Amino acid sequence: MIKQSLIVIATLAFLNISALAADTNDTKVETNSTKQAEDNSTKKADAKPAIEVNTAACAGCHGKDFEKKALNVSKIVKDMTKADIIASLKGYKEGKGGAMKAVMMGQVKALTDEQMTAIAEKFGK
Ligand code: HEC
Repeated sequence: MIKQSLIVIATLAFLNISALAADTNDTKVETNSTKQAEDNSTKKADAKPAIEVNTAACAGCHGKDFEKKALNVSKIVKDMTKADIIASLKGYKEGKGGAMKAVMMGQVKALTDEQMTAIAEKFGK
């Protein structure tokens, strides 16, 4: 009788340990996949770096968030669509624009297409 209950206890103990071991494995698998997901997102961020454009020079006329009418004549750029902003900036680069285009022609001279797109993405609707 004593021998039998010892075997039962031993068996229970063994099952418990196996269950624990299985638990640990599960956790490990989870940790690995989480890590992989993190790695993947880091890689994605590396593959496509966001272009940061310094718009401090624009803020003097347009406001920090392009919320003002520059020199009281421009449209409020933050209310324009992204496409309209890109079109205007490219236009100034080609010498096209409104009555005050000369002001903007100097501003956009050094901007690349990618930088104009980045500005539109960040501030446009
Ligand atoms: C010296 C003041 C001044 C600065 C600095 C300036 N702008 Fe302008 N911006 C203007 C004026 C004035 C207009 C209107 C020009 C026109 O008649 O077409 C304008 C127009 C624009 C427009 C088109 C809005 C419209 O009315 O059609 C965009 C977009 C724009 N600016 C973006 C920028 C960006 C981006 C910068 C910084 C790289 C910048 N501006 C810097 C004065 C300024």
